[in-house]
Amino acid sequence: MNNKLVSAKMAGIGAYVPETILTNAYFEKIVDTSDEWIVTRTGIKTRHVVGNSGEVTSEMSIKASRQALADADMSAEELDMIIIGTVTPDMKTPSTACFVQKALGAKNAAVMDVNAACVGYIYALTTARAYILAGMARKVLVVGCETLTSITNYKDRGTCILFGDGAGASVLQRVDEPGVGVLATHLAANGDFTDLLCVRLGGSRNPLTPENINDDGRYLYMNGSEVFKHAVRFMQNAAEKVIADAGVKPEDISLFIPHQANIRIIDSLAKRLSIPEEKLFVNIQNYGNTSSASIPIAMVEAKQQGRLKAGDLVLLVSFGGGLVWGAALVRF
Ligand code: COA
Repeated sequence: MNNKLVSAKMAGIGAYVPETILTNAYFEKIVDTSDEWIVTRTGIKTRHVVGNSGEVTSEMSIKASRQALADADMSAEELDMIIIGTVTPDMKTPSTACFVQKALGAKNAAVMDVNAACVGYIYALTTARAYILAGMARKVLVVGCETLTSITNYKDRGTCILFGDGAGASVLQRVDEPGVGVLATHLAANGDFTDLLCVRLGGSRNPLTPENINDDGRYLYMNGSEVFKHAVRFMQNAAEKVIADAGVKPEDISLFIPHQANIRIIDSLAKRLSIPEEKLFVNIQNYGNTSSASIPIAMVEAKQQGRLKAGDLVLLVSFGGGLVWGAALVRF
């Protein structure tokens, strides 16, 4: 597909997390758990949640997107596409991207949501890049946003401690020069594992009825230890693929931003990829797992901390329910 003279440049990034913070002490009060267990098994200390604010996925997306557009020095009317990775859309239909388009005034943009669980941002980024390289779009807003707390079962200690809410956004722009922006991406999936991480109720397979409306099936179910088993290997494969496809050396990577799902997964993946600690970005302690928002939130934080600068080569990698996984290599 590659038109080698055209690139999809990362023109701007932005992020937003809601104000309310849930600490591990909060979970000690509502389920049988401890701060010590949560920190050692997951690395999480706090998560930002919409709580009683009434915020929804589109509103957080809009805040992150406004920042990304300002960072790119671009007006919303210049966008010709908006792609939002989310598994917690405002509504089943229309897409969350429709609400974002209206609020931003992006009247020239085609819009869609992408459901690829925690890999939503990388799937959306890959789609945006493909449109740009194919000559079908010039400026695309790519968002990862979740209100995961809307599908979290606060009686299940195995999952409720993990999740937070938030949004990250970026603007991809066509530039007529080679070797900048998103250099390579890889997407993958294995539908043998659909039952490891799922919301069973509320779709066409099991619609909500008066009889089942209070069942736990309306929340996110996860077989954590089974997901864990596959996560590191799948992400390692995806990371190695994009490094090879881009023709770079692992030591050329300036910063590694993995999906923030579990510190043990992150550490084990970094070790397998021989990424030294100073090149690894971790913020799971502050946000928990925000699914498709985790990587774009981390990009913004890395930039704010001076760890992501223009010209840096950044490796992004993620996995999630499906199972799905993927990676992207980006020259900022
Ligand atoms: N507090 C205390 N104990 C807990 C607990 C909690 N919050 N959650 C689970 N446990 C218990 C289990 O009940 C189990 O007890 P048992 O041995 O008496 O049955 C024990 O801890 C071990 O459970 P297990 O599920 O095997 O723990 P784990 O080490 O695999 O950690 C996860 C659980 C969820 C943290 C971990 O599996 C994980 O992070 N998996 C990947 C999930 C993920 O990243 N998903 C997102 C994909 S995007």
